[in-house]
Amino acid sequence: MTKKWIQGEVVSVKHWTDSLYSIRISAPEVKFIAGQYTKISLNIDNQEIARPYSFVNSPNEELLEFYSVSVPNGPLSTALQKLDNGAQINVGPTGNGFLILEEIPSVDNIWMLATGTAIGPYLSILKTDESWSKFKKVILVHAVRYSKELTYQETIKEISDKYGDRFIYITYVSRENTEHSIKGRIPNSIAKNELQNKAGVEMNPKETHVMLCGNPDMVKDTTLALKKIGLKKHRRNSPGHITTENYW
Ligand SMILES: Cc1cc2nc3c(=O)[nH]c(=O)nc-3n(C[C@H](O)[C@H](O)[C@H](O)COP(=O)(O)OP(=O)(O)OC[C@H]3O[C@@H](n4cnc5c(N)ncnc54)[C@H](O)[C@@H]3O)c2cc1C
Ligand SMILES: NC(=O)c1ccc[n+]([C@@H]2O[C@H](COP(=O)([O-])OP(=O)(O)OC[C@H]3O[C@@H](n4cnc5c(N)ncnc54)[C@H](OP(=O)(O)O)[C@@H]3O)[C@@H](O)[C@H]2O)c1
Repeated sequence: MTKKWIQGEVVSVKHWTDSLYSIRISAPEVKFIAGQYTKISLNIDNQEIARPYSFVNSPNEELLEFYSVSVPNGPLSTALQKLDNGAQINVGPTGNGFLILEEIPSVDNIWMLATGTAIGPYLSILKTDESWSKFKKVILVHAVRYSKELTYQETIKEISDKYGDRFIYITYVSRENTEHSIKGRIPNSIAKNELQNKAGVEMNPKETHVMLCGNPDMVKDTTLALKKIGLKKHRRNSPGHITTENYW
């Protein structure tokens, strides 16, 4: 019988901001496909609290990595933020979820749209060679409230250095004016063709697949915006252009 939990050990916690952090965990038995999530749990006040988190590492990296934001009054995300190196932590034995390459049709242009911590699963995917043989261009889009939340710049630079103009990285900052990012939200920007213009890539049904991950309101509103320009939800028995994962 499969075990419910693998006992892992925290190897490091990187604090990007007061609320954003990444945890690296040693738990070599855990198996997953890039883009998937698993559950993490801690015993808090004698209660097992478990929540899903997406892998940021690719399956061929040794340590597991999860990227999280501490949500005010959120039981697990605030407890994870306080962990020290060496802490014991339960990790689900396998990955779950369909935000994975084998569920995505082969197209020229793959758009990976994320809010907040949902950039994680895309980084996992983009660290695999497979993603680069399946698509001609990858457009990674990260939407955050404030500039300082545009994390993982080193990883993104490594990808950019390796794949050159096959990789396009576009950022949104909604609550600050910046020189580097689009101000505002993704759906409105798609509706006015701003994102497509900035990428220099069309979003037509023939060459496009769009992955959406993170805030469920972003997923809903962006799906509506994409439907208005002729894209449709992708299902196994009815192929389309939009694949989604909600974080709550
Ligand atoms: C499939 C899946 C994968 C997930 N992967 C991740 C991940 O990789 N990283 C991550 O940070 N979270 C992820 N989440 C959310 C995560 O499971 C927890 O809900 C989150 O960490 C908060 O846990 P909590 O116990 O503190 O509060 P909860 O009681 O779980 O959540 C309280 C509220 O916090 C808000 N919230 C929850 N998660 C987020 C978030 N990520 N960003 C902004 N607001 C949020 C929502 O309003 C939610 O109702 C994922 C969720 C799902 C369903
Ligand atoms: N970010 C912080 O500074 C901070 C600090 C401490 C705690 N927290 C807590 O952490 C949690 C998550 O914050 P977060 O900033 O990571 O995630 P978030 O609230 O999902 O915001 C991430 C991005 O998604 C955008 N967005 C929200 N709704 C959208 C929609 N319908 N369509 C398109 N885009 C949409 C936001 O724009 P808008 O800005 O326009 O909403 C923002 O740019 C919250 O509970 C928050 O209280 C956040």
